[in-house]
Amino acid sequence: ITLYVSCDSTARSLGADAVANAIRSEALLRNIEIRLIRNSSRGLFWLEPLVEVATEAGRVGYGPVTVEDVPALFDAGFQQGGEHRLALGLVEELPYLKRQERLTFARMGITDPLSLDDYLQHEGYAGLEKALALSGRQIVETVTESGLRGRGGAAFPTGIKWNTVLESESDQKYVVCNADEGDSGTFSDRMVMEGDPFMLIEGMTIAGLAVGATEGYIYVRSEYPQAFATLEEAIRIASRYGYLGSNILGSDKAFNLQVRKAAGSYVCGEETAMLESLEGKRGMVRAKPPLPAVHGLFGQPTVINNVISLAAVPLILARGAAYYRDFGMGRSRGTLPLQLTGNIRYGGLVEKAFGVTLRELIDDFGGGTESGRPVRAVQVGGPLGAYLSAGQLDVEVDYEALAAIGGVLGHGGIVVFDDTVDMAEQARFAMEFCALESCGKCTPCRIGSPRGVEVIDKIIAGQQVESQITLLRDLCATMQDGSLCAMGGMTPYPVLSALDHFPEDFAAAPVRKA
Ligand code: NAI
Ligand code: SF4
Repeated sequence: ITLYVSCDSTARSLGADAVANAIRSEALLRNIEIRLIRNSSRGLFWLEPLVEVATEAGRVGYGPVTVEDVPALFDAGFQQGGEHRLALGLVEELPYLKRQERLTFARMGITDPLSLDDYLQHEGYAGLEKALALSGRQIVETVTESGLRGRGGAAFPTGIKWNTVLESESDQKYVVCNADEGDSGTFSDRMVMEGDPFMLIEGMTIAGLAVGATEGYIYVRSEYPQAFATLEEAIRIASRYGYLGSNILGSDKAFNLQVRKAAGSYVCGEETAMLESLEGKRGMVRAKPPLPAVHGLFGQPTVINNVISLAAVPLILARGAAYYRDFGMGRSRGTLPLQLTGNIRYGGLVEKAFGVTLRELIDDFGGGTESGRPVRAVQVGGPLGAYLSAGQLDVEVDYEALAAIGGVLGHGGIVVFDDTVDMAEQARFAMEFCALESCGKCTPCRIGSPRGVEVIDKIIAGQQVESQITLLRDLCATMQDGSLCAMGGMTPYPVLSALDHFPEDFAAAPVRKA
């Protein structure tokens, strides 16, 4: 009898470890032989701890399971897929999963993260095998043709970035994975690192082969200790079996990989601040140009990509550029792992081809708000993303479509708020966040953000509301135009969108109360 309980941090924080232990003890007590695998998570977080049982028809699920439920589950014969009030039927048939297009997250919830055999049996390393038969230029062309754009948020074409590194002459080049996933409401990078680490390692190895880089670093945020440990172990395993090192799979190609722990700074997710941090310096933003692709880590040409961009690469090589490109709309090709959080009933990971609407995601997948109250605002793209109003939710998930309504897609984080939200407070939070996280290098951001907090405080207190709103808009324009990086440059997005879509929250105090 084979059972699965997720080892993902979210599942564990919801009690998966205790449930796994209770299942083991109960099985021992009843003299039932079981094999319990700690798999990755399906990303259906409201069902965690989710227990899956292998049956002839497929995996049958039970959830969310508590320790107290375990004896009754055994009584019901759940280890053979028996009926119980927590029974969910075949997990693959759950509409939340069935309606997704899982390309990057195809193995998620299915495999044991650190089993190389499992990875190989589920199409793992098929991309690297193909890449080893190609020249660097051919790999770059394949990635370019796939239409893949940077999934960290900036959506820059990955193939074009790689081409710049390929064409930069140097004896030493690097591949750096930005795993400093700092956006509020995002967890897709973490799920990949904890749940399918070989996919990221394979993607980085292919990037190395493409541009001629032999060294790679994964910069993992310090708040992700499990991702850090899982990656370290996966690198050890991949090295032991010849998937990393000096003669990859018997070829003359070399690629070595190391993990580095970040130190809790949001701005270190900005690529040049991250390079400074990797070099052992304080995480200050560097002016661009020169681009990291030309002058990056230790002054050498460097590919810098987000986890999800690199994780998409193995499949693109394995199945071909056209396969990936056929998903999506407009210039947004392939799929995006969207993360539903905030005040939402069914929070979790939804990988869909570009073109799905926010309304479908929030209503059809997410089931509306957790509170049951109407959706009032949705922040897409992290703490520096714009707030959209309930009337804007028919927008398609597409970089250009969101930009057209003043929004950003960013890293695909969707945070939902109901009608109890105070948007002036949310605008204040954006400025406060910027003041806290600013690296301090440029004036509009360093000085502008604390002044922004003060101005919003005056508005909230009902002091000279109209003139303060004019001042706030002025300040936002200065930050947008004059900041060196996206931190100061994008903080105006949540502030201005709150002002534009929810002006009633910025009215003088008596009106606000009414
Ligand atoms: P950017 O537009 O300056 O650059 C995008 C990428 O393309 C960079 O890697 C840059 O070096 C590269 N690039 C540009 N021209 C190139 C060329 N000719 N050849 C090779 N490479 C080239 O954007 P930036 O500042 O890197 O990122 C801003 C975005 O980051 C925002 O849109 C935001 O959504 C996102 N973000 C994501 C966070 C997360 O946690 N994932 C946190 C904060 C912001
Ligand atoms: Fe630093 Fe802010 Fe300027 Fe970016 S915008 S360089 S975070 S001070």
